[in-house]
Amino acid sequence: MAHTIALLPGDGIGKEVTVSAVEIMKVIAEIFSFELSFTEYLIGGCSYDEFGTPLTEETLNGCKKADVVFLGAVGGYKWEKLPHHLKPEAALLRLRKELGLFANLRPAKIYEPLIDSSTLKRETLTGVDFMVLRELTGGIYFGSPRGYNEKSGWNTMVYSYEEVERIAHKAFQIARTRSSRVTSVDKANVLEVSQFWRNVVHKVHEQYDDVELTDMYVDNAAMQIVRNPGQFDVIVTSNLFGDILSDIAGMITGSLGMLPSASLGELYGLYEPVHGSAPDIAGQGKANPLAAISSAAMMFKYSFNLPHASELIETAVTEVLEAGYRTPDIYSTGCTGIGTEKMCELIKEHIYQKAAYARESYHL
Ligand code: IPM
Ligand code: MG
Repeated sequence: MAHTIALLPGDGIGKEVTVSAVEIMKVIAEIFSFELSFTEYLIGGCSYDEFGTPLTEETLNGCKKADVVFLGAVGGYKWEKLPHHLKPEAALLRLRKELGLFANLRPAKIYEPLIDSSTLKRETLTGVDFMVLRELTGGIYFGSPRGYNEKSGWNTMVYSYEEVERIAHKAFQIARTRSSRVTSVDKANVLEVSQFWRNVVHKVHEQYDDVELTDMYVDNAAMQIVRNPGQFDVIVTSNLFGDILSDIAGMITGSLGMLPSASLGELYGLYEPVHGSAPDIAGQGKANPLAAISSAAMMFKYSFNLPHASELIETAVTEVLEAGYRTPDIYSTGCTGIGTEKMCELIKEHIYQKAAYARESYHL
């Protein structure tokens, strides 16, 4: 039976990078002999333009019917002045909530060939490979009461036991597949909700005595990510802190154009590049498709249980970078500058070259 994928290219470069990711998914399906079926829906600004809402029931139901959702990016200058609930970003928040995507995985990995495009020194970055696990459907993003009037504005940061418990389990489970170290980030010296978070994480940790747990305040964590990112394996944190820390973590790797993400719940998985819709370069064929392509790699690993397909894609990405090919966002002197389509072509070629070997070593 075919794996069904709801495709939400969205706005700006979201459309272009999704085309590349789909090409790669098709190549993988061909190599590993399974079927993928795609249905495309509007989301974000383009949906607002067409239907007056950034997320229609049709799109939402389409996502619920599919095995996984693949999203490009949403947003753009054009829709910035809309009221909150009509902004493209509101679609993303509702989608996360409706699909129960409580666990957001944002890997921060240094690709050796790109190490010099980071603002940090090479010696600080060598070997950096950690995962920010962000709670995605609770906390201040969704707490009530919320609002503002002429005199004040307010939001509520709230977590239930179950919400912290399930993300903590996820953190320890992911850590077991990596270096078995979890840093739980909070602000327990000031916020009661954070003290509660810390208590629950420690309670869950009793079931994972093979995993090392450290607590860290969020301000210190922000500093440590820049000072010595190599110390981290899995960072687990709440929605707002994770939003901020994952941008810091992303930036030290040198380019947001390289970073994939997965948002997982009990029933669904949504995969998207971390970067936005980049309206300034949209439609010019310049966008870096590697974050979207790596998001497809995460999809094969986490939703379809095909880690070897995922590795095949990741190896191709590394090799193409090693061969000196770069889209403008990661370009440096002496490299070969290319656009979105060419980058996708090269990844495809590398995957095909390695396919025979991969089939043999995985007995396919
Ligand atoms: C992210 C983004 C979103 C968030 C916005 C677009 C709503 O910054 O995915 O990190 O704040 O979660
Ligand atoms: Mg963000």
